[in-house]
Amino acid sequence: QAPKLTTHYELMDWAARFFQLQLRKHPSKQPVLDYIRSRGLDGDTVKRFGIGFAPDGWDNLQSQHKHNPAGLNVLTECGMLIAKEGGGRSYDRFRDRLMFPIRDRRGRVVAFGGRVLGDGTPKYLNSPETPIFHKGRELYGLYELKQQQRHPSRILVVEGYMDVVALAQHGIPYAVASLGTSTTSDQMQLLVRTSKEVICCYDGDNAGREAAWRAMETALPHLRDGVQLKFMFLPDGEDPDSLVRKQGQQAFEALVDKATPLSDYLFERMLSSADLSSQEGKANLANTMSPLLNQLPDGLLKESLFSRLERA
Ligand code: GTP
Ligand code: MN
Ligand code: MN
Ligand code: MN
Ligand code: MN
Repeated sequence: QAPKLTTHYELMDWAARFFQLQLRKHPSKQPVLDYIRSRGLDGDTVKRFGIGFAPDGWDNLQSQHKHNPAGLNVLTECGMLIAKEGGGRSYDRFRDRLMFPIRDRRGRVVAFGGRVLGDGTPKYLNSPETPIFHKGRELYGLYELKQQQRHPSRILVVEGYMDVVALAQHGIPYAVASLGTSTTSDQMQLLVRTSKEVICCYDGDNAGREAAWRAMETALPHLRDGVQLKFMFLPDGEDPDSLVRKQGQQAFEALVDKATPLSDYLFERMLSSADLSSQEGKANLANTMSPLLNQLPDGLLKESLFSRLERA
């Protein structure tokens, strides 16, 4: 039985510790430990990110709070329990999954991402929006990064939990993930406040390349002078987790060093579909690019990109 916790933060913190305890004590922990090992994670990394295990079963979490109805309500508001329609019994949202706690900037657990152990759908199950979790405003791994580097000189934006965690284990602690959806304007603002160099590093597939373009569009209004946005394009079929595991820290960071600056990315993409042999084609290019460049805050970057456009 858990003590009578009352606030959302207390109960989420308790849930994170409960899942961590299951990873150490649960009778069926072995396949989970095997899965963790198969993903290449060591004990230090598991501990640093507070990774845990939600065992199979409908009421592992709620049975701990039988005598705390207020606590059960709060767990439901936090998305940890799902209330059955018509007032029937509630059940645990996360069952038989590897659990990644999502912490806010002050280190408080506000949500979870749960990965199925092996194949199965959905691959990741995430907490819903709750009174303490707005997924468009949090970045997975930002708290853990700030524990290592107060003022990171650069920051990687990746797609997934496993990318953040695997990079950290390979000596690259400066990666964060937007949570499942594409990077929002609030997240971009937070990113450029955290570091002067923001590098988007999405998966080497079509979805990843489309995410890069959308991230660029979202970032434009936040790119004041002095802030750099860059892009890394991974080989087909790779993501940061698979690549750093295959190639190691040095090779991966060599790719980070060679990331494409926003200006080159923008012009390469635009010029590849432009016809510069005619005045009409040039006007077309200017017409599609001007609204993008106009999103930039006034400053030297904006001016120099407009003059590069004029010279194109
Ligand atoms: P691994 O297979 O564990 O390496 O996952 P991944 O991080 O490479 O997954 P993927 O590239 O497919 O997805 C990136 C991120 O999108 C994940 O970390 C999740 O946050 C999110 N995501 C992926 N699959 C799902 C899903 O089925 N449901 C939801 N809600 N989110 C998902
Ligand atoms: Mn919200
Ligand atoms: Mn992906
Ligand atoms: Mn991936
Ligand atoms: Mn992956």
